[in-house]
Amino acid sequence: MARAEDDTWDITESVGATALGVAAGRAAETDSDNPLIRDPFAQMFLDVVGDRIPNLYARGEDLPPELVELDPRIGERMAAMRGYIASRTLFFDQFFLSAAKDGVRQSVILAAGLDARAWRLEWPAGSVVYELDQPKVLEFKVATLESHGATALTTHVGVPVDLRHDWPAALQASGFDSALPTAWSAEGLLPYLTAEAQDVLLERIASLSAPGSRVAVEDFTHEFFSAESFARREEQMQRYRAAAAKLGRTDIPESGNLLYEESRTQVVDWLAAHGWEAAGIDARDLMARNDRHVPTDIEDATPQSIFVEGMLPVQSRVTR
Ligand SMILES: C[S@@+](CC[C@H](N)C(=O)[O-])C[C@H]1O[C@@H](n2cnc3c(N)ncnc32)[C@H](O)[C@@H]1O
Repeated sequence: MARAEDDTWDITESVGATALGVAAGRAAETDSDNPLIRDPFAQMFLDVVGDRIPNLYARGEDLPPELVELDPRIGERMAAMRGYIASRTLFFDQFFLSAAKDGVRQSVILAAGLDARAWRLEWPAGSVVYELDQPKVLEFKVATLESHGATALTTHVGVPVDLRHDWPAALQASGFDSALPTAWSAEGLLPYLTAEAQDVLLERIASLSAPGSRVAVEDFTHEFFSAESFARREEQMQRYRAAAAKLGRTDIPESGNLLYEESRTQVVDWLAAHGWEAAGIDARDLMARNDRHVPTDIEDATPQSIFVEGMLPVQSRVTR
């Protein structure tokens, strides 16, 4: 399904289903021998929606022969993606815990999807976690967690809103205080926004950030957004779609791309130009730090991304 300016989705549709894919990665990692992160809630979401293609992460060594025939290295690809998701999850976990350790008590998770940090991290007393995503995605998450008797470990405030709309107003109406330092995250979000919407998002984060605020972003390289890179990924998707169809599966989107192929500002540059102290680490370096490696002879096994952290100095004024 191609994207439209005001499209909406539930957890099994369009961009919403990508949150299930990430949950599948976290569930598989949690279930592995030496997990980097533990997310006991991820499998609950997968169980509710039933057996879908994203669950393949969890199968690892028991992949359907049709898929192995199509791509004999699919097992290695899945393992690389699991390592990617695990490293990414750990990066954002550590970001929030470190901000909390330094006294930040207000956190905002943009495009929270099935992220269960409010249910699984040890937040200090007095913390508040705001989660923003499309209404049906948040509804599914909270209903699933409640039906399993899970309770949040901190004050959790869901803010159902489209991030292309006036989300700052919705966030403030939910109790967010822009006078307090905030820890912001944008994980698995930017390619689903146009370049223009990405800039607006960053401007809004900056305008709501008191000195001492921090931000962590999964950013993507210019190469990731290039036409060649999009064409390669689409071609790979077509092949998987054909193989899935042979298995009687139609849960890989039929046509069109969910991502916006538009070159855009690199987040680390944007932050530096707006008064933030910012640094980034390439995804493969981050993975290597966690002893997770990507086979160098498999193209596009993991996204070409950069994990960025920024901090607004306590003493300086931000350029907005
Ligand atoms: C790949 S998932 C990542 C979810 C979560 N951050 C994680 O890493 O598990 C992408 C998420 O972005 C959300 N999203 C994308 N565009 C959005 C928009 N315009 N408004 C609200 N949510 C959006 C989707 O609903 C989905 O939950």
